[in-house]
Amino acid sequence: MPPTLTDDIRQAYLDFFEVKNHAVIPGTSLIPENDPTVLFTTAGMHPLVPYLLGEPHPEGQRLASCQKCVRTQDIDEVGDESHLTFFEMLGNWSLGDYFKEEAIQLSFEFFTEILEIPLQKLAITCFAGDKDAPKDEESANIWKKFGIPSERIGFLPKKDNWWGPAGKTGPCGPDTEMFYWIGEGNPKGNPATHPPSSGSGQASDWLEIWNDVFMQYNKNVDGIFTSLKQKNVDTGMGLERVAQVLQGVESVYETDRMKPIFKVIQDCVVSGSTPLTMTRHIRIIVDHLKAATFIIADGVEPSNVDRGYILRRLIRRAIRSAKQLGIKTNGSFCPDVADVIHLEYLSVYPELNYKLDEIFNILKKEEQQFHQTLTEGLKHFKKMSGPIDGITAFHLYDTYGFPLELTKELAAEKGQTVDEAGFAKAFEEHQKLSRKGAEKKFAGGLADHSAETTKLHTATHLLNAALRKVLGNHVQQKGSNITAERLRFDFNHPDKLTPEQIKEVEHLVNDAIKKNEPVSYHITTVDGAKKEGAIGVFDERYGQEVKVYVVGDGTFSKEICGGPHVARTGMIGTFKIIKEESSSAGIRRIKAVVEGGPEEIDVAKEEQRA
Ligand code: ALA
Repeated sequence: MPPTLTDDIRQAYLDFFEVKNHAVIPGTSLIPENDPTVLFTTAGMHPLVPYLLGEPHPEGQRLASCQKCVRTQDIDEVGDESHLTFFEMLGNWSLGDYFKEEAIQLSFEFFTEILEIPLQKLAITCFAGDKDAPKDEESANIWKKFGIPSERIGFLPKKDNWWGPAGKTGPCGPDTEMFYWIGEGNPKGNPATHPPSSGSGQASDWLEIWNDVFMQYNKNVDGIFTSLKQKNVDTGMGLERVAQVLQGVESVYETDRMKPIFKVIQDCVVSGSTPLTMTRHIRIIVDHLKAATFIIADGVEPSNVDRGYILRRLIRRAIRSAKQLGIKTNGSFCPDVADVIHLEYLSVYPELNYKLDEIFNILKKEEQQFHQTLTEGLKHFKKMSGPIDGITAFHLYDTYGFPLELTKELAAEKGQTVDEAGFAKAFEEHQKLSRKGAEKKFAGGLADHSAETTKLHTATHLLNAALRKVLGNHVQQKGSNITAERLRFDFNHPDKLTPEQIKEVEHLVNDAIKKNEPVSYHITTVDGAKKEGAIGVFDERYGQEVKVYVVGDGTFSKEICGGPHVARTGMIGTFKIIKEESSSAGIRRIKAVVEGGPEEIDVAKEEQRA
């Protein structure tokens, strides 16, 4: 019998690839450690970026994982049958090992032999070709060889059949995507001839469930594609969608792990509008609070910038939808929903369990604050007279969190009208502006995989070591973020650093740089690394084998890390701390820059051990 339950599908996938000689690696945090080009982990490949670019992975060239992901670019589609901001991605990778033939064969075998999906329900798309890469006839022919008829294979351009880079720069390539027929009656054509009615809120007839990316290119800051050192395969299968298909239900929200969350919200509904709108709002709440719960579990708090802002938006959007359904939201609604989310997922994601108090407290506080804002909005509203124009309705929405429905209802009670078209226009304008703002911000604030980030990465190790020397061995990394301009390092320490301590830390780092020590790594187990005194973020889930980066003979710095790092410390340039501040209770934050190193660098290599 093929697996149908979500947990069984996840396990079947990992087991299948383990048998096919892939090392199963643990999923990582939603906060990317190895990829500074994105705010959240949006795919299973983010933790693997250095290895796709050519660094050797400690567990070998064939890997598989289940990775929790957050993607917000489709946030407006959430509420339909299949779009989610939080989802689990099953993935298998070849790091310069197998390529198209075997990748497609593995996908095909998993589909037909493990999931027992009937061939006639499958359709495929391949890359149509352009100036950057040729038409992918090769993949199409491999699919045909496995019995997929030509009429089920479509060719589409880059916008559809090319994946990556996820940020501005990085590994990418043409892909071949696999779709399942969820339309009425017999399958028709393929996604190229029978395209999904995107954005209409209607179900597409062909549902994308898996993507095999042939990552053989790197896109640089100038938008140029160059060949990578190695040809990689990066795949991603949407666990919730596969569960939807195998369970024969109409949406991801009706699958076994999602349904209980849907149900608990449904039970709170006091006044739903039409059943269709009600379903949409409940789905939004399920998805957004699930994303929020997992994001908080990975250490993010609501704020007005970056990740914290996205978290705040997710929570507030969920609360807005709850309000539309007449659900009371003055502090306990979000935590109650999070409780069910935690129960459904805790066996796979234990972090939900040990961060439960934080999840409850943060959601409760945010819900109460938003309630307060709405109450103030109500006071403001009472003072208004005459017809309410679009800008005012939007202001009520944007500043005080009033959904348009609420404004209309309140206005009707006082015999006022609302300019709905004007609201829609103001809303659209605002979205355009914030999208532009976000693009700019991400372009400026997030790094690429350049020499600069590599230098800052090694500088972070030296800083970590220096802090332990100056402040004591209690110091541990609590967070790290690197852009092309600066490093940011969070660590535990009870007091503000004195100017003397800051000078001393800078001095120790620059001293290590001046010595121009070689940087190298070796591969060992987590226990082996601990035994030899390597530092690391031990509450992270490491794989079986890890890389330990060593500066010089290792007395100054020895740390578990994925890399890459500079080959010699002298390449870093001059190190300077530009800010030391509090990050949260008991956690200090340092921002630092490096200047004057060479533009081109070599990266650290595996140490030759006798
Ligand atoms: N990284 C690819 C995706 O997300 C597999 O679709």
